[in-house]
Amino acid sequence: MKADIGVIGMAVMGQNLALNIESKGYTVAVFNRTAARTKEFVESKAQGKRIIPTYSLEEFVDALEKPRKILLMVKAGAPVDEMLEGLFPLLERGDLVIDGGNSHYADTERRVKEAEERGLLYLGTGISGGEYGALHGPSIMAGGHKEGYELVREIFERIAAQGPEGPCCGYFGPGSAGHYVKMVHNGIEYAIMETIAEAYDLMKRGLGMAPDEMAEVFSDWNRRELGGYLFEITERILRYRDPEIGKPLVELILDTAKQKGTGKWSTQSALDLGTPAPTIAMAVFARIISAFKEERRAASRVLTGPEPSLSVDRAEFTGRLFGAVYLSVVAAYAQGLRQLRDASAERGYGLDLAEAARVWMAGCIIRSKLLVPIRKALLEQPDLPLLFLAEPFKSAWEKYHEDLRWVTCLAHQHGIPTPAMDSALTFVDAYRCERLPANLIQAQRDFFGAHTYQRVDKEGTFHTDWEAVA
Ligand code: 6PG
Repeated sequence: MKADIGVIGMAVMGQNLALNIESKGYTVAVFNRTAARTKEFVESKAQGKRIIPTYSLEEFVDALEKPRKILLMVKAGAPVDEMLEGLFPLLERGDLVIDGGNSHYADTERRVKEAEERGLLYLGTGISGGEYGALHGPSIMAGGHKEGYELVREIFERIAAQGPEGPCCGYFGPGSAGHYVKMVHNGIEYAIMETIAEAYDLMKRGLGMAPDEMAEVFSDWNRRELGGYLFEITERILRYRDPEIGKPLVELILDTAKQKGTGKWSTQSALDLGTPAPTIAMAVFARIISAFKEERRAASRVLTGPEPSLSVDRAEFTGRLFGAVYLSVVAAYAQGLRQLRDASAERGYGLDLAEAARVWMAGCIIRSKLLVPIRKALLEQPDLPLLFLAEPFKSAWEKYHEDLRWVTCLAHQHGIPTPAMDSALTFVDAYRCERLPANLIQAQRDFFGAHTYQRVDKEGTFHTDWEAVA
């Protein structure tokens, strides 16, 4: 009996996806570069299941029903190319390879072409939801050859998280569209995580709140219109006590955030496109600064600043902090979606942004109640320039911007860094400002470099001999 699909890479994501697919009635062949891992997986988790272990690429390819469908779950970067180098020559016209890792979109673009030249189909597919999602229902963002998507549509629809508006999987467009959408998903993920971390810092250092008390606040927020996975896990993290010591584990964790690159790539691409994604960028920089642990330790003894403790009413502060967090989170989605809009125009993806919102409704890390109104706004106006221009976000801005100003102002007065919240505020303030001071920048550019400028009172391009005038 041949397998319906094969999974290469038996790290936890690959294992869980194989188990998820099998649980939906499919037969799955599995392969891992190190045979011992395949053996261990099959013995520990796949007994009595329709899972076929294979120990060479040839055996793996032979075990698959044609056209072959192969899901690659190996580390992004060189390992994907190494695997493809061995795999491609063994495949036949019409076979499909799906890269389910967090590959850089430029790599995917190149691999789609390579596959095409060999008569193969290729899908660069972002899969979100971590280990749990892989097993119980991830969110799947595919791009590449549309015919390839049709070959696995049924499998994807059955293994994906089931959201309020259908299975959370979708085909987004040619080339690297799927990996691009997933990369921006991760950028938004970084920005929401940073916003939540800033709220935690303000409550902890500013108000002196204990983890259990902060958990109550996150629990309340999670029940409101902001609710979503990252708020839910924050509450659970804050309540968790180290079993040995009995103290909240979060306070025992080193304050250095790691990153595997997708937030950085998202920001790099935003810069290349000329699309404003400052809250996502600030979240990446915040992780970078957090990694300077030793320098920060030394600087904390040299550079002075105000006391972080805030003398404010706790209920008022946490109430207004909700508004600040709400707007910052909306800014993260707004910037990410704007980036997708701009990338689609530049790269010819033909992205349906409302579909991205639908696919993010369940299974992925940025799933949130907010995606329901976000999708509605995008369905009503597919080319919406910025979420804040549509309801309910326009009214939310009106309702909460004073809170965001008040919270960030207090944070600055007390020396607590809030880069994500600050950037959300200044981004919208700049966006809604009819006349920015860029006229002065143009004058400076023209002064030192004869870069020319345009005028508001007459047509044309102008240069002034500023020295002569002065
Ligand atoms: C997901 C996540 C996942 C990502 C991790 C770690 O959607 O399931 O985005 O793909 O790899 O969250 O990312 P960092 O190591 O960069 O924080």
